[in-house]
Amino acid sequence: MNLPRDPDTVPQAAFGPDHAEVYELTYRHRGKNWEEEARDVTAIVRAHCPRADSLLDVACGTGAHLAEFARQFGHTEGVEIAPAMRQRALGRVPAGTAVHAGDMRTMRLDRHFDALTCLFTSAAFLPTPADLTTAIRRMAAHVLPGGVLVVEPWYFPEDFLDGYLGGDLVRTPDRVVSRVSHSVRRADATHLHVEWTVADSSGIRRFTELEVMSLFTREEYLTAFDAAGCEAHYRPGWLTGRGLFVAVRRPG
Ligand SMILES: C[S@@+](CC[C@H](N)C(=O)[O-])C[C@H]1O[C@@H](n2cnc3c(N)ncnc32)[C@H](O)[C@@H]1O
Repeated sequence: MNLPRDPDTVPQAAFGPDHAEVYELTYRHRGKNWEEEARDVTAIVRAHCPRADSLLDVACGTGAHLAEFARQFGHTEGVEIAPAMRQRALGRVPAGTAVHAGDMRTMRLDRHFDALTCLFTSAAFLPTPADLTTAIRRMAAHVLPGGVLVVEPWYFPEDFLDGYLGGDLVRTPDRVVSRVSHSVRRADATHLHVEWTVADSSGIRRFTELEVMSLFTREEYLTAFDAAGCEAHYRPGWLTGRGLFVAVRRPG
């Protein structure tokens, strides 16, 4: 991969400080509505577990779902691996909502929850099916028997459009952001190469990032839930079009 082609364009790890700054603005401009999604997930959780009053949002990013979950549940917490994303989440959630630094494969919190979410394809950032199995086991270990897990996958291998091009131009009163992306399939993963240009009163800066997302199969998710003691099903569609895995932790 030719990365970067332009000497002024700085390569960055995904979800670093520059990316965190424009992440939510760009997806909101596309129509993503984290609040509506969180309310819909709340309804799905309560349909399976009417008593649900506590929720853990894993890979909570900038905390946009988590802030809405905090309105819907009596107790909420988040886990996030990227410091810049976690910092933004901490700045927006209510005082009682902890946002832990952590990796979904190794997290160990000192309580159990009625519900757990892992949304906007975060689990696909895990590199192998074995990592997915480990992470879903860790997630299930934080859910009470009868509690609900909701995991939004990335595309399944048969649905991914190899060579997909993305483009966004966002204008606000004090900023212009452009995001151009190219996705290719490399073995069992999507390599999403993104070039960002951000202009504000201080000038123009450019950076690139590479997001690698595993193309896990539907069966790999379902097998991971089963191994973690959960009864799972896949709901196609949902608000993002990628569907949701909804799982209930078995008793015992
Ligand atoms: C596409 S963002 C989604 C964030 C948030 N859930 C949302 O809806 O905006 C993916 C997030 O997963 C986080 N992430 C990736 N791998 C992780 C891991 N192993 N453990 C915890 N968080 C992880 C990233 O840092 C990033 O914030």
